Amino acid sequence: MNAIAALAGLGTALPSRRVTNEELSRSLDTDDEWIQSRTGIKQRFWSAGETTSDLAVEAGRNALSSAAMDTVDLLIVATTTPDHPCPATAPDVTSRLGLGTVAAYDIAAVCSGFVYGLASAAAHIAAGLAGSVLVIGAETYSTILDPDDRTTSVIFGDGAGAAVLRATAPGSPGCLLGFDLGSDGSLKDLITIPDGGSRQRTSRSGPTGTYFTMQGRPVFRHAVDRMTESAGAVLDKTGWSVESVDWFVGHQANARILRAVADGLGVKSDRVIIDLDRVGNTSAASIPLALARAATEGNLVPGDRVLLSAFGGGATWGSTVLVWPDISAL
Ligand code: UT7
Repeated sequence: MNAIAALAGLGTALPSRRVTNEELSRSLDTDDEWIQSRTGIKQRFWSAGETTSDLAVEAGRNALSSAAMDTVDLLIVATTTPDHPCPATAPDVTSRLGLGTVAAYDIAAVCSGFVYGLASAAAHIAAGLAGSVLVIGAETYSTILDPDDRTTSVIFGDGAGAAVLRATAPGSPGCLLGFDLGSDGSLKDLITIPDGGSRQRTSRSGPTGTYFTMQGRPVFRHAVDRMTESAGAVLDKTGWSVESVDWFVGHQANARILRAVADGLGVKSDRVIIDLDRVGNTSAASIPLALARAATEGNLVPGDRVLLSAFGGGATWGSTVLVWPDISAL
């Protein structure tokens, strides 16, 4: 029987600069009450000079320590904010972690990037191409936000979360038991950085075209629908009932989105992990950061059944499930 990928270690990193809602309300037409009631966010961390690769290296090193491993066969970085458009960030992270010349590549699936990364890693392991993989979701959205756009600036934060996956026998704790992945490119304009790519190389309109833009309301609607469908689909595939799920760990976009998805699925609200109050929406880093916090605070314990689901620009979405293994997040 083929080996299956299991979670063996988890690590995180946050930049040093904490940014409160109150601080943002000094430069933007917004306030703490609006931000908390519409999103659930109380604060976020923004780069004080740390790059995406810096955060990825720190989270990756912590994940390797958590797994008590010093080598892997493949490293994947999921990010919307690579250090450079070219080359990918993953080879640099691999080199700085002292992992030698192993395969390394980036995934651009925006906020679904970590789940896409887990699926890619699991596929490498199932195919026998790798025995272990380090998957890192790392972001510095503060570098692409328009400082004058209150609809995006209050939402996004920087950070990184990393997971070590290792080949194991089916039935072991931590096994990723199935995936549901999808995309809808007809929604590509809902979340976009318009300029800087091959379609529009240089900015048409000053810096504005190189900033991240999001049409909040339709994204909200699609996020709820797709995460609900995708999470339901992966439960069907793995034969888990909704009642058997101990924790729903969704992409930390908005507390109202997470509550709506939980309602749609029939997951009780006290089974929903919330981390966005502390870090905002950290895109590809949000699920591993939320998992690490839940494990560190003692909510997520070995044997718990965990459902992960994400939605992001593209549009992309994805879900997976696992039984929580006996690991310490670092
Ligand atoms: O991570 C990838 C996926 N991303 C998401 O899933 C994000 C999905 N979208 C959302 O979370 C929400 O749509 C937002 C948090 C972005 C916006 O919340 P909303 O409840 O959908 O607000 P809205 O865009 O409908 O705007 C409502 C009002 C508007 O004013 P008017 O037109 O009613 O006068 C906005 O101009 O709120 C205003 N507004 C603000 N007011 C104070 C928008 N942003 C702010 C702000 N502070 N920061």
